[in-house]
Amino acid sequence: MPAEPVIVQALRGSRPERLPVWFMRQAGRSLPEYRATRAGTAMLDACLTPELAAEITLQPVRRHGVDAAVFFSDIVVPLKLAGVDVEIVPGRGPVFGRPVRDAADLADLVAHDLPDDAFAPIEEAVARTVAELGPDVPLLGFAGAPFTLAAYVVEGGPSKDHLRARTLMHADPEAWRTLTEHLARVSGAFLRAQVRAGASAVQLFDSWVGSLSEADYRTHVLPASAATLAEVPEVPRIHFGTGTPHLLPALRDAGADAIGVDHRIPLDAASALLGGDVPVQGNIDPALLGAPWPVLEAHLEAVAAAGRAAPAHVLNLGHGVPPETDPGVLTRIVEWAHGR
Ligand code: CP3
Repeated sequence: MPAEPVIVQALRGSRPERLPVWFMRQAGRSLPEYRATRAGTAMLDACLTPELAAEITLQPVRRHGVDAAVFFSDIVVPLKLAGVDVEIVPGRGPVFGRPVRDAADLADLVAHDLPDDAFAPIEEAVARTVAELGPDVPLLGFAGAPFTLAAYVVEGGPSKDHLRARTLMHADPEAWRTLTEHLARVSGAFLRAQVRAGASAVQLFDSWVGSLSEADYRTHVLPASAATLAEVPEVPRIHFGTGTPHLLPALRDAGADAIGVDHRIPLDAASALLGGDVPVQGNIDPALLGAPWPVLEAHLEAVAAAGRAAPAHVLNLGHGVPPETDPGVLTRIVEWAHGR
């Protein structure tokens, strides 16, 4: 048997010979080749065109030599495939034609079920990508977690504190449960499709979950996230959110194999909160990507040193690559990680 890719080893809890690294949002606007490929094509159209999605997924692997590709898609793609009126507005994010504000809106959303062959373009894109990557570089699939998706669906677009979603959670817990169970089915099916077509691991993005208390998370959100993660038990599952120092054990309890951590807490402290036996991913502060190399390098040393407290560590940013990032800096981080 050939050795498993280093990222998969780390996500399964053993420390590989080198520090594996990839970047959230590595496939995207920081790359001139991405901007050229995307020119003239709307974001969600690009996601649903297998040749484009595969090409964009491969670009950061070719350029940076990262240890994994992350599938080029978006958290709202499965809703789009279910026929929901959603677009991604450049510079803003997902915008819904009919935000879920009352029982009729909710019934309308839930009535948008996924047709049997809904994921055909996704599976084709994943299969093409995996064939090009070969056995050494795994593809990571992903989906949006029910809370983060609900934050967009209820608000109708991006919001600061996700107030409307958090209000609905308490004002009408039944409606909230119907909504999050639906989103769990949709995101779970998206993960299944990617794994079926060849993804080696997945990440569940609950980017905005840090706005919840632990009690609210455990009561109103964890069951739906757990249902989503339970759809793909055969691959390692990373669970990621920002602003989550108070939620780390709860995120693990949702059924994750590894936890993604943002820059707000050192990885050794995060690992201690997790009981010391969970692989961690992160947590370069994206703000430091624009700092002089010696400053960034000292930060990388600190991140890697703190990561040694966990059973294994996958180097990544604490959140996505900012669009204005110099791609050369990302390449240099990969060289640094692989050279130590
Ligand atoms: O990580 C990758 O490189 C893979 C692709 C990926 C995208 N979105 C592509 C994308 C992934 C993993 C996502 C996840 C995603 N989408 C999340 C969770 C991760 C996070 O950053 O917290 C969220 C919250 C979304 C929703 C979304 N889609 C937002 C907020 C935006 C940004 C809007 C903007 O223009 O600032 C998008 C659009 C989007 N998704 C882009 C990309 C490459 C930019 C599209 C463009 O080129 O204009």
